[in-house]
Amino acid sequence: MHKMLPLLLTTLLACYRQTEGSYQYLAGHQIWKLGGKESALPGQLMADGLLDILDHSRKLQQVRVAPHHIDRVSELLQKDGISYEILVDDLASHVEGIENSERRRRDVSGNHQTCTESHCPEPLTDVYMRFDQMEWYLKQLNETHYPNVSLSSIGKSHENRDIWLLHIKSNKPDARAIWIEGGIHARERISPAVAFGLISKLATGDGAKYNDFDFFLAPMANPDGYEYTFTGDRMWRKNRRANSHQRSNCYGVDLNRNWDFKFGVGASNYPCSEVYMGPSPFSEPETKALKDAMLERNGSLLMLFSLHSYGQDLLYPWGWTSQEEAENKDELVRVGQAFAEGAREIHNHDYDVVNSAGGLYYASGATDDWAYSETSARYAYTLELRDKGERGFLLTSEAIKPSIEEVWNGFQKILQNIG
Ligand code: ARG
Ligand code: ZN
Repeated sequence: MHKMLPLLLTTLLACYRQTEGSYQYLAGHQIWKLGGKESALPGQLMADGLLDILDHSRKLQQVRVAPHHIDRVSELLQKDGISYEILVDDLASHVEGIENSERRRRDVSGNHQTCTESHCPEPLTDVYMRFDQMEWYLKQLNETHYPNVSLSSIGKSHENRDIWLLHIKSNKPDARAIWIEGGIHARERISPAVAFGLISKLATGDGAKYNDFDFFLAPMANPDGYEYTFTGDRMWRKNRRANSHQRSNCYGVDLNRNWDFKFGVGASNYPCSEVYMGPSPFSEPETKALKDAMLERNGSLLMLFSLHSYGQDLLYPWGWTSQEEAENKDELVRVGQAFAEGAREIHNHDYDVVNSAGGLYYASGATDDWAYSETSARYAYTLELRDKGERGFLLTSEAIKPSIEEVWNGFQKILQNIG
């Protein structure tokens, strides 16, 4: 064999894998924008695995429909009096177009940030980090900032990746604790990116001002799903459990439906649904690791802050019902408004402070409601990051830096307002 042939083959294979991986699963998938009356039908279709609701907010209402469901969903929506407009008629070429132009932009500007195993001084902001890079950063931070920070693995994912928890320590003995969770939904790449931005702010420089608090950050709650958005399907949301116990070929449990609070009230027991709650509460190693680590700090937990995308909304409990009000709702709204004002100051982007169970979009088994109900945290928020649906989950990496800047400013207002 020619001596260059193996190299050529591996290179070709690598390119093929990348293209194949990101796009083939999305061929023929469409994104629709729903109109017409408010209806419980989209939520029902999501539970049945026929529809993928992309945003939490009623104003945007974008959904993804797989090619083999298009006729059926179209018919059901029409019968129910819901109109729709096709925004993207083939997700595969749409994603490919966005990723290619982002690659070109980076090639032109030159990617100057580096994160390798031996040198990863800062989280990357010009590209979405891979999971190994996140680990390199955390380990380097742990080495350079120990004992003020300490890094531990609180468990392993289905595919044996670590669930990392970073503790940024207070110098007060009885400090109250702030818990930040990122990346529980795989495709919401801006979520871990912002979580890492907050780690960097809190652990170095300015962050020292907030030394009255203990910070616990689990920036990558769903490492398998996240990696799968690079190697398999860019629109993947759940973890990577093989649901063979249910005699199903569909993978994944929605980790934000798997917590043991009102388990199953607003979720699906069908493994192929994007909101599949799993066989039982905390059936997943990822959620179990997170809740055990949270319960260890119970008593001192003051706030849970869970990062998601997209829609630019700050959500407060309850999320499982709109029939009941959170006991300190006014306080949650007051502090939430402080966040929104702080965020707006930076790049003039609006975040709406809204109740999580926005009308018909209730969902149970989520981190926020669980923490609010089952721990000492009196504040529990889910932050839906940028954007408002223009790019959605395909938000390009240009948005990382401004997102971190505005969230950091908003977050500081929260810290100044709670207690
Ligand atoms: N978009 C998030 C989700 O679907 C929102 C969760 C809000 N919290 C809730 N308990 N409903 O998981
Ligand atoms: Zn999410």
